[in-house]
Amino acid sequence: MPRTREHTLTLPVTGTTPDAVTLTDAERDELIALASGVLAAGPALIDEPAWLDTVRDASAMLPRRILSELRRFRHDAGPDAVLLLRNVPVVASDPLPETPSVPGSVERVPAVASALVTAAMMQLGEVIAYRSEKTGALVQNVVPVPGSENSQSNAGSVLLELHVENAFHDNKPDYVGLLCVREDATGDAKLCTSSIRRALPLLSERTVAVLAAPRFLTEPPPSFGGLNSVTPAHPILVGDLEDPNILVDFAATHPLDDEAAAAMSELREALMRTMSALALRVGDLAVVDNRLAVHGRTSFTPRYDGQDRWLHRVYAHLDHRRSRVDRKGGGAVLD
Ligand SMILES: [Fe+2]
Repeated sequence: MPRTREHTLTLPVTGTTPDAVTLTDAERDELIALASGVLAAGPALIDEPAWLDTVRDASAMLPRRILSELRRFRHDAGPDAVLLLRNVPVVASDPLPETPSVPGSVERVPAVASALVTAAMMQLGEVIAYRSEKTGALVQNVVPVPGSENSQSNAGSVLLELHVENAFHDNKPDYVGLLCVREDATGDAKLCTSSIRRALPLLSERTVAVLAAPRFLTEPPPSFGGLNSVTPAHPILVGDLEDPNILVDFAATHPLDDEAAAAMSELREALMRTMSALALRVGDLAVVDNRLAVHGRTSFTPRYDGQDRWLHRVYAHLDHRRSRVDRKGGGAVLD
């Protein structure tokens, strides 16, 4: 199914920010010590099996307040379905390398930032990746890539439409962690998040009923190169309609009839009216509950000078057994 929809609307940025937890200097020192321990004890490469074992062990020793916040978020992601930890260290004392700009960029060699984002996500669930996306790397770089400006993917720089991460996949991530390693100097690139909990009260009863029916198809994102299958028809609102999950990608989900199309439009409008927009700063770790919230990004202009916006992305899901069928050999990578 071709991606013919045009993304010409500007997201109405409200400037609101989800509740944030700012780390103290003492907590930063604890985290640098924890990451240093991982780098000293762990394997040479992130995607070796021993990496997750090492980080899992270390993650149990995160500062007490962070453990508590992660556990609380896991229990209930709140009305915004986003947890924002600020002031997370991304380097110890060494300088930050230049922002990569190659397609499919991932982190291979462990570093402070990759160790800490993995440790935090490990306390929410099991860290996973997808073989078809960035070669199954556990810590992926979200960076602008020359020639991919118009892509509806992590490599693009035009407006990235609101979406559930890997919405087409049977075992999509339950949580998406985005750690800002280098901020967009212009401040134009804003992470946009919107939760169905905020948007639901704005929808009519009829629209909710339509969105809860299997009247939609979702195609895989372009980062899953070569995969052409689409989902079976599915509902956008899933579960108890008093507090449903959301399953939609406004760049990849297609309504099957006119009424379904109108319901999708009303939903997008409601999500935009309740949206948070955040220019991530260095050390911001935004964790999105991928069952309750959609996310996207405003457009920005990369310079490709080594100083562009740079995020580490790590996925986690809650039920490792549920996805066993997709994890050949029992590792962390789903097919
Ligand atoms: Fe995404």
